[in-house]
Amino acid sequence: MGFAPSRRVGVLLVLLGLCAACSAQLPPPAPPAMLHESFAGKSEFRTVNRRPLESCRNPSPYLSINASTAGPLPDEAFVNVTVGGVFMPRGSHWVAMITPSNSSVSGCPLSGVNYLETGDTAKLPLLCHYPVKAQRAKSDPGYLGCKKATCQKRDASGGCQVRTCGATLTFHVINFRTDVEFVFFAGGFQTPCLLKRSGVLRFANPAKPLSGHLSSTDSSATSMRITWVSGDGRPQQVQYAGGRAAASVATTFTRKDMCSFSVLPSPAKDFGWHDPGYIHSAVMTGLQPSQSYDYRYGSDSVGWSDTTKFRTPPAAGSDETSFVIYGDMGKAPLDPSVEHYIQPGSIAVTGAVAKEMQTGKVDSIFHIGDISYATGFLVEWDFFLHLIRPLASQVSYMTAIGNHERDYAGSGSVYVTPDSGGECGVAYESYFPMPTAGKDKPWYAIEQGSIHFIVMSTEHAWSEKSEQYNWMEKDLSSVDRSRTPWVIFIGHRPMYSSNVGIIPSVDPDFVASVEPLLLNNKVDLVFFGHVHNYERTCAVYKGKCRGMPRKDASGIDTYDNSNYTAPVHAIVGAGGFSLDGFSLIPQSWSLSRISEFGYARVHATKTSVLVQFVSSGTMEIRDQFRIVKGGR
Ligand SMILES: *[C@@H]1O[C@H](CO)[C@@H](O)[C@H](O)[C@H]1NC(C)=O
Ligand SMILES: *[C@@H]1O[C@H](CO)[C@@H](O)[C@H](O)[C@H]1NC(C)=O
Ligand SMILES: *[C@@H]1O[C@H](CO)[C@@H](O)[C@H](O)[C@H]1NC(C)=O
Ligand SMILES: *[C@@H]1O[C@H](CO)[C@@H](O)[C@H](O)[C@H]1NC(C)=O
Repeated sequence: MGFAPSRRVGVLLVLLGLCAACSAQLPPPAPPAMLHESFAGKSEFRTVNRRPLESCRNPSPYLSINASTAGPLPDEAFVNVTVGGVFMPRGSHWVAMITPSNSSVSGCPLSGVNYLETGDTAKLPLLCHYPVKAQRAKSDPGYLGCKKATCQKRDASGGCQVRTCGATLTFHVINFRTDVEFVFFAGGFQTPCLLKRSGVLRFANPAKPLSGHLSSTDSSATSMRITWVSGDGRPQQVQYAGGRAAASVATTFTRKDMCSFSVLPSPAKDFGWHDPGYIHSAVMTGLQPSQSYDYRYGSDSVGWSDTTKFRTPPAAGSDETSFVIYGDMGKAPLDPSVEHYIQPGSIAVTGAVAKEMQTGKVDSIFHIGDISYATGFLVEWDFFLHLIRPLASQVSYMTAIGNHERDYAGSGSVYVTPDSGGECGVAYESYFPMPTAGKDKPWYAIEQGSIHFIVMSTEHAWSEKSEQYNWMEKDLSSVDRSRTPWVIFIGHRPMYSSNVGIIPSVDPDFVASVEPLLLNNKVDLVFFGHVHNYERTCAVYKGKCRGMPRKDASGIDTYDNSNYTAPVHAIVGAGGFSLDGFSLIPQSWSLSRISEFGYARVHATKTSVLVQFVSSGTMEIRDQFRIVKGGR
């Protein structure tokens, strides 16, 4: 979700006559209070795009910008970029990393109107294509004081006549297939002018198979999907289980697949576009549940990934399962750069989950919406996939769609906001193929151990008689509770949150439509994200506590579902995005409220589900509760 007022967006769309244009094919627009501001280009850095490019006056003739590697780049590198030949170091000097190297670094004054849709009223863009990242030269502490001086010209006696200054900045670079260039600017982010370009750096192998991540295809746990990216679209394969192989199917998407208003290009279609290469996916079959296998993916012509070990989850109906769940993760730079959208907790949470996985007790991971926050700046999907690879390459990484993957006015999302930056679920669906009902129907059910998981899309129509509603009703009413005694319901936007903000976190229409399904079908536990904190309820229905937990012998809050009363809701949106707070006056249904980065760890047997919210900073359990039923 977002946390700033966004009525402006709605007002702008109306001013531009867009709602008139789109109302014909859209569900009724959400009430203005539900509109969220797009965070595409929300940092100070976005202003790069909002000003005309001016040429720097009287640049030093000695200017240079050099990268520490001239040769082909590996799949991951920290490249030192050295600028030099500067007469007067200034705080306003900065270096951008751009890809591809021929993307425009000149001004695009006529497309200034494009940025209006993100709620920005600034008139003119600067760079016609958004840089991947940027750093101020002064982040080298020696720059402003000219600690790295060079003598450019000496007099006859050897004294220095012309002295210049320089800085060295470190950039984290991963293989985004397209070549890279570093560009030195003066004038700050607001009114930059171009000083010098570094020349092109290429990746050694733009076709390299990278960022493999796993997902389950069904409840048998005898097959596993592996999805990876490569610059080459010819079939590759996954080799696994000591000699077996499965061919990949490669897909891609183009700028044309991104959604936009005709008069108002979205970031995804315009300045944020980056070629995703090819997304390969292959299904490994004939596996046993809860078993480990080695695998690698690629081909002899493009090369192979490292060999990695993964484990299948437990089969439906088996006694035990453990999983980790969080929402709203995103990514953050591993260098001091500014990027268009940074989620400060993402590195700590992925690090903590990686530690958790070393215990061998994580059977799968659920990431429940707001996945990468690329929001139309497509190269950021590569950074996100790189960040989660240590987790998602080992166990099945199951996802739900969020507003920042799907929403865009005129595209069929329930909420008419530009939150996906024009991706409209296309990038999400390509990178995270789930066992869903079909294209742009990102809802599914899957069973592991004693749990029936039902994963919905809060961004697609959910009202009574909608396709998704009918599916949820059918799925929930057909669960075999003797095989999977527990039903866990998952979505992105919550039904209960005591977060306070100008924008309500909860859509009362959503609650009115879908909450009765949960109660009528005896859903035990509900996980949502969207709000960036952790909160847990009583057994709640229509805002009233129907059941309260009791402390068990070890002091853990325990809900007894032998006599079912209502679902327990937990918000686990603390996966990375800047944290949200809580109302000072707690709601009666709110039993635990924690505003720290972290994730929930869940362990289920046939008679008990234990949920623990773990703070990523300390790995401490900050809240825990148990739901029990049957012969304890
Ligand atoms: C980049 O600079 C850092 C800090 O000065 C240094 O430790 C590192 O070795 C340099 N890397 C390269 C590739 O030159
Ligand atoms: C950059 O490389 C050029 C050519 O090799 C060299 O003349 C210049 O001094 C280098 N600049 C810096 C700041 O290292
Ligand atoms: C950049 O280069 C690629 C590959 O050569 C080409 O397809 C593309 O049109 C170029 N883009 C621009 C903006 O010149
Ligand atoms: C089950 O819970 C309901 C509602 O709290 C209560 O009226 C009923 O007596 C309970 N039944 C048993 C068997 O505990």
